[in-house]
This record gives sequence, C-alpha cells and structure tokens, in this order.
Amino acid sequence: MTFLGIDLGTSGIRLLLVDENGQPIGATERAYHAAHPHPGWSEQNPADWIFALEQAIDELRDHYPQFSALRGIGVAGHMHGATLLDHAGNPLRHCILWNDTRSHVQAARLDAQDQVRAISGNIVFPGFTAPKLEWVRENEPEIYAKIAKVLLPAAYLNFYLTGDYVADMSDSAGTSWLDVGNREWSGILLDAGNMNADQMPRLVEGTEEAGRLRSTLLDKWRLKGPVSVAGGAGDNAAAACGIGAQDEGQGFVSLGTSGVLLSARDGYHPAPETALHTFCHAIPGRWYQMGVMLSATDSLNWLARITGQKPVELATELDGTLQKPGSVRFLPYLSGERTPHNDAEIRGSFTGLSTETSRADLTQAVLEGVAFGLRDSFEALVATNAKLDHLIAIGGGSASRYWIELIATALGVPLSLPKSGEFGAALGAARLGMTAATGAAPDNVMTIPDVRETVEPNQALHPAFEDAYQSFRAAYPAIKNCQ
Ligand code: XUL
Repeated sequence: MTFLGIDLGTSGIRLLLVDENGQPIGATERAYHAAHPHPGWSEQNPADWIFALEQAIDELRDHYPQFSALRGIGVAGHMHGATLLDHAGNPLRHCILWNDTRSHVQAARLDAQDQVRAISGNIVFPGFTAPKLEWVRENEPEIYAKIAKVLLPAAYLNFYLTGDYVADMSDSAGTSWLDVGNREWSGILLDAGNMNADQMPRLVEGTEEAGRLRSTLLDKWRLKGPVSVAGGAGDNAAAACGIGAQDEGQGFVSLGTSGVLLSARDGYHPAPETALHTFCHAIPGRWYQMGVMLSATDSLNWLARITGQKPVELATELDGTLQKPGSVRFLPYLSGERTPHNDAEIRGSFTGLSTETSRADLTQAVLEGVAFGLRDSFEALVATNAKLDHLIAIGGGSASRYWIELIATALGVPLSLPKSGEFGAALGAARLGMTAATGAAPDNVMTIPDVRETVEPNQALHPAFEDAYQSFRAAYPAIKNCQ
C-alpha cells in the first residue's frame, strides 16, 4: 500500500508518495504564480493547480512503480482562499488568496459585529474567507449572485479528486464562518457574512475519509482503487501532523512565504485580543494556536529581487556565526501584518541606514526583522500560557543555519532541525491519507521526526538581541504615525 500527500502551496504544488510505514518513496514539485493585479491583491487560477497536479502525478507515476499501489490521498492547502463555484462546479473567478488584503474594510466591519469573535475564536483578519465574500458581494455582484459553493483551495482539490464538496475542520476554522469550539458551521456567522449553509461544503475531520477517488481519475492515473481521499488540512495543521505536533508543548517555527509560530494546545483556548489564530487541528478533538506574519521568506525574496541576487546568495553573504544585531532595523510588513498588529495597511521599512550600510547589512536586518516578528508571536503565545520550551524549525528558510540560530536567540528557545528528508505539510497530508484509508490511530501515525541538530540560543548575544527587539517593538508605532 502507498499513500500520497499533496501540498498545494502558494508558489507551487508538492506531491509526496510514502509507503505503509510512512517512509518517503518519492516526491515531485510544480511551480505556479500568484497574480497581483492591484497593490494588496493576490489571486490564483484554480485551473493552474489542476494542471500542476496532473503534471506532477504523471511524473510520480512514471518514476515510481509503487504509485500503482496507491490507497489513500491527503491534501494540505494554503488557507483562507475563496474559490467560488457556480451550480455546475465551475470556478466563477480566480481564487482570492490568504495574502490578499483588499477586504480589510469588510473584515473590520465583520470583526466589530456581536458574537463574531466569540463564536469563531478569532479576529476576522482581512486574509480570512468571510470578508472576501463581502468584498465580492459589494464589488462583483454579478459573480456573487451565481455562487453555489465556496471552497477553500484544499477543498477544491478534494472536489476535483472525489466529485464531492467536502472540507476539513482545520482549514474551515480560517473562514470566520465556523464555530471553532464546536467544530460546525455557525448559522450566526454565516448570517453575519451574508452566506447560507447550502453554499458550504460538508465538514469532516482531517483524518476521516472525505470520499473516494473518482473513476475517471482512477482510469487516467492507471489505478485499480479504491483510493480514499482524506478530509485533509490547512497547510499549518498538516505541517503539525508532519512533525507530530499534537499535544501541549509541541510546536514549530515555519519559515515559508508566511512565518508561523505554532503551538499544539491541550484544548480550545481562544484569545482573539492577542491577534493569535486559534484553529481546529486536523486531528479530532484537538486545537492549536499560532501567530502568523505575512512576509517571512517573502521579505528575503523581495530584497533578493531588488538587489538582483538569489535569496540563498544573500544569506550566504553573512558570516556563518551569528553576529550581534546590526544598527539597521527592518520592519517586515511588506504586505501588512496579522500577529500582533492586525494591520493590513502598514508597510515595511528600513531605519538606521547610513552611507556605510552594505547589502549584507540589509540582509542581516531583514533576517533579524523576521526573527523579531516571530518573537512578537512568541510573546502572544506565552501570554496565553502555551508551553514553548522547544520548537522544531521547518520551511524553506530553515535551510539558513544563520537564520535558525538568530531565531533561537531572539526567542530564547532551542530549535531542532529535522534530519534531511521529508517532514512538513506534504508528509502531514500523506499521513492524513493513511489514517483515512486504513483507520490507523493518529497517535501511531503522526510521529516526531529524527533530529539532525538542535540549535541552542546564543546566550552571549541574548542581551543584545533583547535590546534590539525592544527597539523593533518601538518602531511600529513610530512608523504607523508616518504612514
Ligand atoms: C495561515 C495563513 C498562511 C497560509 C499560507 O493563517 O494564512 O500560513 O496558510 O501558508
């Protein structure tokens, strides 16, 4: 038996085939783009996801004969995106993504309504799904009138795979339509967002079977079947499954396009006032909390773009050993910020530039700015009594040893790097596919990865980073006044 994890990411899709012990057999990726037709807008064509998926499946099948023994699939997706479908199941427009902030006015309006935070457990952030639908209602009424279903990106893939409209709890928790404590659509929240229950997909737990792979795809992919498709997960819940973060005290730092500090919780402890996200886990009866910064590796990618370098070239310009904080400060708010500011309109900034400032100084400031942004989330989590003595580091940015030591020092906690190989959202998705197909207990499947290295905070530099963090904190109100 083999199982497939599909990670539908913001910049591309990753497919991972694992065996019945959850060990990787092979993986492949396909890239696609997001369009930014106006400042603050971010959209993708769902047809690009399907095209990339089919190409990746062809490659996986041609390279790995074990593909023919496929029994289960799990999909992890970038969260919050609004894929709007007509009665025939066709997309009515491009998907509006998680990092699109056009609906900040609608978000603030929903957020101010009675009971919305209490039932959803969260601030209504502009990136969430409900305010996007309000924006469409106000700005594209002809499309709004035709909406039969609203699916998150992972649920759209579930629909492509099974022909059914099914979403999991962890992803649905980021819509502002879910009663997150009770794990069901909320009539009150749907009313507040001018939506109705018929427009929502059926809800399942991430580990449950959402449906079976449709017969057309069985034929096309040359499979005998049956193949179970799991409920799946939002990408962060899937990553938590991939590194075995299920219980209080387990969590990760993810350095992807967005930066995430996630802590599994022993129950449902909403704290919307902190701008933390409190979402259902992909595992039944569990929840997690996370702080989200919108531009983590995106900040380094931006600097690389404007300096004509590759991000990895910039990172290697820094000396291998951690340096004390530089005099340049960077606020990483290139697309606004969620935790802790909930401010879609704030933008990034450099301060402390001089004629001596070099490109390497700017890189150092960018890496430090992202680390301090994560420290903000860390402080918010600690204030809600999350236990964070140790974290696992994942995501593309964790390839930089410098950045990892910097973050460990800024947070004051050791960061473990998993042994090279597979972990993260694609593995978590494959594990969900396995539980759905076999009925295996999540505790036996969602195990902790072997660790390659644990990076300790640099104690000698800790006081200097503490001072620099305080100046980072003070910079936000100052910049806010100028913008
Ligand atoms: C989480 C969030 C991002 C996306 C993209 O709330 O918006 O982490 O899921 O990765």
